[in-house]
Amino acid sequence: MAPSFPTMEPIILEARRRLAQGAWDYLVGGTESETTLRQNRAGWDRLAFKPRVLVDVSRVDPATTLLGHRLRIPVVLAPVGGLAGMHPRGALAAVEAAMQFGTVPVVSSAAGHEPEAVAEASPDWPGMYQLYIRGDQDWEREMFTRIRAAGYSELTITVDTAVGSLRERPMMSIGAPTPMALARAGQPPPPRYGAMVTWESIDRYRETSGLPILVKGIQTAEDAVLAVEHGASVVWVSNHGGRQLDHARGSAEALAEIAAAVAGRAEIVVDGGIHRGTDVLKALALGARAVAIGRLQGWGLAAAGKDGVLRVLEILEEEILSAMALLGVTCIEDIGPQHISPAVPVTPAHEMSSWPNMPGGRVL
Ligand code: LAC
Repeated sequence: MAPSFPTMEPIILEARRRLAQGAWDYLVGGTESETTLRQNRAGWDRLAFKPRVLVDVSRVDPATTLLGHRLRIPVVLAPVGGLAGMHPRGALAAVEAAMQFGTVPVVSSAAGHEPEAVAEASPDWPGMYQLYIRGDQDWEREMFTRIRAAGYSELTITVDTAVGSLRERPMMSIGAPTPMALARAGQPPPPRYGAMVTWESIDRYRETSGLPILVKGIQTAEDAVLAVEHGASVVWVSNHGGRQLDHARGSAEALAEIAAAVAGRAEIVVDGGIHRGTDVLKALALGARAVAIGRLQGWGLAAAGKDGVLRVLEILEEEILSAMALLGVTCIEDIGPQHISPAVPVTPAHEMSSWPNMPGGRVL
């Protein structure tokens, strides 16, 4: 519990104070013009609520499930790269916060820890694991064995990272190399396994790992249908928080068509610019089962470790409870398309535009 953080603004500002410029730029920035990052935010801003009144909302229950795991609120921790560089306990602290709060952490293979080290923080169940493919089929089998042995119960494969992207904030502040420069320097060495992943690979991962697969990084109805046909348990709508392809659609827009195409054949997770409890409810109204938080998690972790991530989840819970009651719904199943309608955004979207009281506005 970190009572000194009444809202998200002081958490973000504390994270900014604690993080070096490069780590901040890595966490906050997007690709090139950051249009995708802003489209994510704009997509949620382009929806308004249609509340119903005179419903007994004296008891409101925001709990749901994802692949059978209970979620205290429909929010899971997204896999986030580099957590080990944002706090000494990195993903270990994030997993502990998720377990204490009552939600699911999705541990990133790019967090900067071995999968076993994170699992030690939560020996009963460390959550779900996200794997980047960095080797041949022998390497895959070895990783699946380790992931299962460490106790992770599902496997997330991120499919929007065939190649690296040009993230200009860390390129400018700390001289982060471009993907092309890395390739010229032989890092990652050829063959480029990540660029060779196909739908057939998804079949192989499902069969070889024996774990349910979440396919993360779906942006079209066509690919959502393929994900279902290739046995995905979760279609994860994401443009990587605006960190991969620039000038993509916002996640909200993609989610609407993907939910229709999936038609209940898989569960749907969405991420990208989700900052507030109201954003969570909009995502549910469009057909998501849960949302995932990346930057909010990173800010909480950088600000105050496990307690910071816990506080982020508590703030979201407070916002969700308030918005559900004011929307006239008492449980998650009641939220549907009838609760939203198109709207014209009232502010230009940027990475801090959800917090109008942020001292200084943009935080650079
Ligand atoms: C990133 C990768 C690690 O976005 O997911 O930085």
